[in-house]
Amino acid sequence: MTDETALREALCAYGRLLFGRGYSVGSAGNISVRLPDGYLITPTNSCLGRLEPDRISKLDGDWRHLSGERPSKEVFMHRAVLSARPQAGAVVHLHSTHATAIACLAAPGEAAPIPPLTPYFVMRIGRSLPVIPYYRPGDAAMEPAIHAAAAEARAVLLANHGPVVSGATLDDAVYAAEELEEAARLALLLRGQPARELTAAQVDDLLSTFG
Ligand code: 13P
Repeated sequence: MTDETALREALCAYGRLLFGRGYSVGSAGNISVRLPDGYLITPTNSCLGRLEPDRISKLDGDWRHLSGERPSKEVFMHRAVLSARPQAGAVVHLHSTHATAIACLAAPGEAAPIPPLTPYFVMRIGRSLPVIPYYRPGDAAMEPAIHAAAAEARAVLLANHGPVVSGATLDDAVYAAEELEEAARLALLLRGQPARELTAAQVDDLLSTFG
């Protein structure tokens, strides 16, 4: 099995997992993976729960469509993150409910709309989660705003739309997207209550230990 074949299968398996957990519904959400010679991205209007390895869109190194079905309309979003973060190998975009709720509450420009309540949120997402202004889905105009924010952050929240999460590998990007959704759920559950946040020293310790 080639690496690309394995990645196509992993992409479909993770799509099923995210859909099964209710983190995407209908045809919402898209996933991209960097290859040595280009990118794989989920086709537009596809259901993450029913992806097929042979139908995944393949793009060349300049993001031109080579094979498979028509790529996600959010190709600009994925390009923004993968070009801003050479260390990133994959990007997951979801409309998962709790992260999207925070994306509706937070002000565009806000840097950390979810507090550091748990270690795994800090370890997977880091210190910041910039909130990008609202753009229509598929609007190429979002690319510079996401690119600038993603250079400094592993994940961003698109106002009134949802999270865009990167990782060094597809596994990392999916784990981070799952952690972000659960951290958003916790933040909303604890809103208005005197929840104890991790201290700045505890956050520093996590980031210096786990990177
Ligand atoms: P695509 O079906 O084009 O991937 O778009 C889905 C989506 O999540 C839009 O934000």
